[in-house]
Amino acid sequence: VIQKPAKNQYPLHDLLKQRWSPRAFSSQPVEREKLLSLFEAVRWSPSCYNAQSWRLIVATQDEPEAFAKLLSCLTEGNQGWAKYAPVLMLTLARATFEVDGSVNRHAWYDVGLAMANMIVQATSMGLMVRQMAGIQPEHARMLYHIPQEYDVVTAVALGYQGTTDHLSEKNQRREGEERTRKPLHELVFGDEWGKPSPLIDN
Ligand SMILES: Cc1cc2nc3c(=O)[nH]c(=O)nc-3n(C[C@H](O)[C@H](O)[C@H](O)COP(=O)(O)O)c2cc1C
Repeated sequence: VIQKPAKNQYPLHDLLKQRWSPRAFSSQPVEREKLLSLFEAVRWSPSCYNAQSWRLIVATQDEPEAFAKLLSCLTEGNQGWAKYAPVLMLTLARATFEVDGSVNRHAWYDVGLAMANMIVQATSMGLMVRQMAGIQPEHARMLYHIPQEYDVVTAVALGYQGTTDHLSEKNQRREGEERTRKPLHELVFGDEWGKPSPLIDN
C-alpha cells in the first residue's frame, strides 16, 4: 500500500494527516453498513439555513448496469481508472431554497462540506475517496432525469486501496507522485489583502 501522509508543519488529526486521493482501488466490495455510515455523515453535516442541498446518486459494482450508467457520466480520462472502483457516486446540489425558490448561494459550499465529512468518516473506516470535476453533467441530467433546480457537482470514486497494476502507465506514475501544498503565508491574511497574518511565522 502507498501511504502519502501530509507533511504538515503543525499537528493534525491523524484522519486528516493520512487522507489522500488514490486512483488505484481494490475490487473488494464496500460493506453496506459502511456506505450507510457515509450517507449518515452527509446527512448530519451543517448547511446554510439547514437547507440540506446535498443529493447523491450511488452505484456499486454489484449492479453492473447501474454502475456502467454512472460511469458513463465521467469524462473518458476519469473513466480509465474509476471503472475499477467498487463504488461510484454523483453529488448534486439543490441550487434554490425549497421554501421560496430563491437562489441558495451556498448550495455547492454545503455539498462540499458534507463530502468533507463523508471523507473523514470514510477514512476512519479504512476507505479511500477520489473526487472528480471531470464529469459530463448534462449527460447525467438526461440519463437520470435530474430536475433543473439541481446541479450536478462532482463524481466520487470510493473503496479500499488496491494495487496499481491495472492502471495506465501515466496513472501508475501519478499514483506515486508527491502531494504538494501552498505555504500557509500565501493562504491566511491579516489586516491587508495578500499580507500574511501575524499569526503565521515563516
Ligand atoms: C472538486 C474536486 C474535483 C476533482 N476532480 C478530479 C478529477 O476530475 N480527476 C482526478 O483524477 N482527480 C480529481 N480531483 C482530485 C484532486 O486532484 C486531489 O484531491 C488533489 O490533487 C489533492 O490531492 P489529495 O486529495 O491526495 O490531497 C478532484 C478533487 C476535488 C476536490
